[in-house]
Amino acid sequence: MGEHFVRAASLDEVRKAGCLSVQANGHTLALFAYDDKVYAMDNRCPHMGFPLDRGTLKDGILTCHWHHARFDLESGGTFDQWADDAQVFPVAIVDGQVLVDIAHRGDPRQRQRERLKVGLERNLSLVIGKAVLALLENDGDAVEPFRVGLEFGTRYRQEGWGQGLTILTCLMNMLPFLERPDRPRALYQGLSAVAANTTGSAPRFPVRPLPTNTTDVPTLKRWFRRFVEVRDADGAERCIVSAVQAGATDAEMADMLFAAVTDHRYIQIGHVADFTNKAFEALDIAGWQYAGQVLPSLALAYANADRMEEANEWRNPLDLVALLEEAFERLPEVLEAGEQGSRGAGETERLEIDRRGLVAVLLGDNPQASVEAMLAALREGWTIVELASTVSYAAALRIAQFHTSNEFGDWDTALHTFTFANAIEQAARRAPSAELLRGVFDAAMSVYLDRFLNIPAARLPEANGNGHQNGEQNGHQSAALLAELPVLLDRQQQVNEAGEVVAHYLYGGGKPESLMASLGRLLLREDRDFHTIQTVEAAFRQYQLLSQAAEEGDQTAETQADVATHVMIAAARYLAAHAPTVRAQGQTYQIAYRLHRGDRLFAE
Ligand code: FES
Repeated sequence: MGEHFVRAASLDEVRKAGCLSVQANGHTLALFAYDDKVYAMDNRCPHMGFPLDRGTLKDGILTCHWHHARFDLESGGTFDQWADDAQVFPVAIVDGQVLVDIAHRGDPRQRQRERLKVGLERNLSLVIGKAVLALLENDGDAVEPFRVGLEFGTRYRQEGWGQGLTILTCLMNMLPFLERPDRPRALYQGLSAVAANTTGSAPRFPVRPLPTNTTDVPTLKRWFRRFVEVRDADGAERCIVSAVQAGATDAEMADMLFAAVTDHRYIQIGHVADFTNKAFEALDIAGWQYAGQVLPSLALAYANADRMEEANEWRNPLDLVALLEEAFERLPEVLEAGEQGSRGAGETERLEIDRRGLVAVLLGDNPQASVEAMLAALREGWTIVELASTVSYAAALRIAQFHTSNEFGDWDTALHTFTFANAIEQAARRAPSAELLRGVFDAAMSVYLDRFLNIPAARLPEANGNGHQNGEQNGHQSAALLAELPVLLDRQQQVNEAGEVVAHYLYGGGKPESLMASLGRLLLREDRDFHTIQTVEAAFRQYQLLSQAAEEGDQTAETQADVATHVMIAAARYLAAHAPTVRAQGQTYQIAYRLHRGDRLFAE
């Protein structure tokens, strides 16, 4: 008999009681006398911890009395998937004493990975929450459950990559900005979004690569765009998967996919570009070995996307499509001129002045002027990334100055432009090309079309205005300002107030990382909302890039402070407009958290 067998009770005691709760080496066990045998089970119901010794045993099945989960007494296996299997222990009877082997069996991490899959398959948020908390315990690697979600989401959704995987990747990107206790909650929300987005959908049967693997990547790119053009999803998918199989690099695949994303104007109001960007970011996290599964899941979105050539506002009263097509014809000559010019040292300030000028034009009322100003910038030698990041900033300003007299649904219009501009900018950082550059112009036209959102424009909080102070505020003031945010976001329509607090905090010298951690926590306490998560994540990304630009001498610290503050104001205002929600997601997570901690929920 193994060394882990410990005495739990006498056989007489158990037979007399029928069911007995006992302590054995720190375990609370339920012992059952049934059919001439004795069974030992962990007394905590795996669902929400109710004592199983208070359950009912009938025909070999134990039913918990809280939510009626049923367990096979012998194996502990449940008939109710939301409850999880109960843990059972081997029993030996020696000299009238009941001995129980309390040694742990199996790989607990593997068991949690399996539970996570069950949670994803059955859309069970509580199961997902419990598995994530267990997997992230003791500095567990968040990439592991992320990969489980990525594999699941790309396989079990017939329509392919969708909102769920986008949310999961956004929240995974935000993890480093969050405080440690908030990280499992972020992952839980992301994985729950994948489960919700796949539930009820048939699995996706992937297209296989071309058999001989002899077609080169440029040819596959050409074919791919042709198939997307005629909305042939299967043909497009076969090109993607064949290119991955042929060994195409991250940059080559990004070049191929974003070329199709920008072959038509602002497709699917920006979502396809954002999905594509998030798929590449997911691969950055999970590893390129997932490319053959992840990238083909985008094919249907390319083939089915609405094209703004067919949208009235892009055609009338001004034909923006014609305007852009004419500009695109000039791009080769403009880019060539730009390559000849080189920017000298000490040009940072002039570039900033030019950027401010371009932002003013982009936010104006003249799309032709926007296009000409962008072409002029390229001719002067601006990089695609510089141009794209300027357009991203202009799009963020639409949100920072969004007037609350607009209809509530108009927030979506502003968010779509911002996340599209951000996605195109990130793609430009990964694989810049003349084809992708068309997306930057699309984003600029969308910024123009959104001008009604800023009529009138909400006032941007300033460093000197309304009692704001300059310079370092003390830690106490910073903490007080951060403490104001959750209170504000407990009430509806605190859009301008939230923007003011953020401005006051940052202009006063508050630490940006503390603000981002706070905004992240406030995002997570609300029920997951696709658009709000997209906005806050894109704003964090923009902030990070702007900080880097200052460090690399590409922007003065003063400008960086201003521009970055505007981006954070946009994030806080959008979040405030969409809070409070009923926070049911948070409630489920809290239950998972407390169970993980060992709280006795049933005893309250
Ligand atoms: S069924 Fe046992 S605690 Fe819910």
